[in-house]
Amino acid sequence: MSRLKRSDRPYGSDRPYDIVLFGATGFAGTLTARYLAAHAPEGLRWAIAGRGVEKLERLREELGVDVGVLRADVDDPASLRALAEHARVVATTVGPYVTRGEEIVAACADTGADYLDLSGEPEFVDLMYVRHDARARETGARLVHACGFDSVPHDLGVYFTVRQLPQGVPLTVDGFVTADATFSGGTLASALGQFARGRQLVAAARERGRHEPRLLGRRAAAPVGAPRFAPEVGAWALPLPTIDPQIVLRSARALDRYGPDFRYRHYAAVRRLPVAVGGVAAVGTLVAAAQLPPARHWLSDRLKPGEGPSAQQRARSWFSVRFVGEGGGRRVCTEVAGGDPGYDETAKMFAEAALSLACDDLPPTAGQVTTAVAMGDALTDRLIRAGIRFRVAASR
Ligand SMILES: NC(=O)c1ccc[n+]([C@@H]2O[C@H](COP(=O)([O-])OP(=O)(O)OC[C@H]3O[C@@H](n4cnc5c(N)ncnc54)[C@H](OP(=O)(O)O)[C@@H]3O)[C@@H](O)[C@H]2O)c1
Repeated sequence: MSRLKRSDRPYGSDRPYDIVLFGATGFAGTLTARYLAAHAPEGLRWAIAGRGVEKLERLREELGVDVGVLRADVDDPASLRALAEHARVVATTVGPYVTRGEEIVAACADTGADYLDLSGEPEFVDLMYVRHDARARETGARLVHACGFDSVPHDLGVYFTVRQLPQGVPLTVDGFVTADATFSGGTLASALGQFARGRQLVAAARERGRHEPRLLGRRAAAPVGAPRFAPEVGAWALPLPTIDPQIVLRSARALDRYGPDFRYRHYAAVRRLPVAVGGVAAVGTLVAAAQLPPARHWLSDRLKPGEGPSAQQRARSWFSVRFVGEGGGRRVCTEVAGGDPGYDETAKMFAEAALSLACDDLPPTAGQVTTAVAMGDALTDRLIRAGIRFRVAASR
């Protein structure tokens, strides 16, 4: 993997913008734009992009800062190509990604622009690996998916935990997620879409497996754990089949620091058994309903695109991911925690990841890479400075 060092591409490179935020007028996009307006370093050249110029102009006025405005529509591939050519880093919130996301990935891979998104859709991420990883490696583009609550706290939390453990020995890490939060229309649409695409999801994973090189001389796995009471966190642990364990596994495959034999299991942690049983039943009902188009449409009509939790609801929301890591005779318990996972903290993680790609001196990587691989140390430091807590709770 090779690409120009960050220091070889300072501000003032040949592209007009350091960061272009595509989908800036959506729910997550607007929060990200506000974060960038408040935190972008002096001299950063950035722009907001989307399909509606009037909506973008209104957003620019609200932001009250000097940002560019670019029109780009998923249904107009030339506009996406132009967007990629204008940016060193493209950050997109235009989802559901499996139906709206590919053209901009292709444009970034082809023009050597770095790309990041908020996708939690495994099918999309696998297909983008199969179709665009090789081209991105040629041009030096870094394609970083899942830069929100999916999967930054999990990926960087495991990265942080591994670094507390001895090197060169087999390691196991279990992650336990607890959160109190609600979601947006865009997230609901993406989740229902994924639930209805079980067959395509499996086919994309198989296709990826056929393309991905085998891991030589080391082992890494993310098996689905069994439901159990986990005394180490004092809660019921339910296997959580999100994209997060897949992302962690890719970091483990790419980074020797995860040791010769690494295993990660990902759980939701629930204190009371009836809540755990109710949660499983609710998700099961949602997955079943998503298979029937009328039920799916009824559900997605409950929360429209662009709608999401109010500022008051978000202020009450929080998340905590606890990790228990073991290896080489040591055991460590760590935690990554913060406020509203789905939106306020997602906007922070997403914007800081974009700033990291644009501004930090990072290890040389290209192609589809995870947050830990592309910017593990730099992004962890940024998030700590931005108020997300990474801590070692106990070790022996
Ligand atoms: N992983 C995480 O932790 C996390 C957290 C939050 C969100 N997400 C994901 O992020 C995505 C966005 O969520 P959201 O709640 O912000 O959704 P949203 O409010 O519906 O925003 C979607 C954005 O896509 C734009 N868009 C739609 N069709 C387009 C087209 N043809 N061309 C160009 N732009 C188009 C919309 O533009 P208009 O404004 O013009 O309608 C809007 O800006 C979803 O996939 C969601 O699952 C992930």
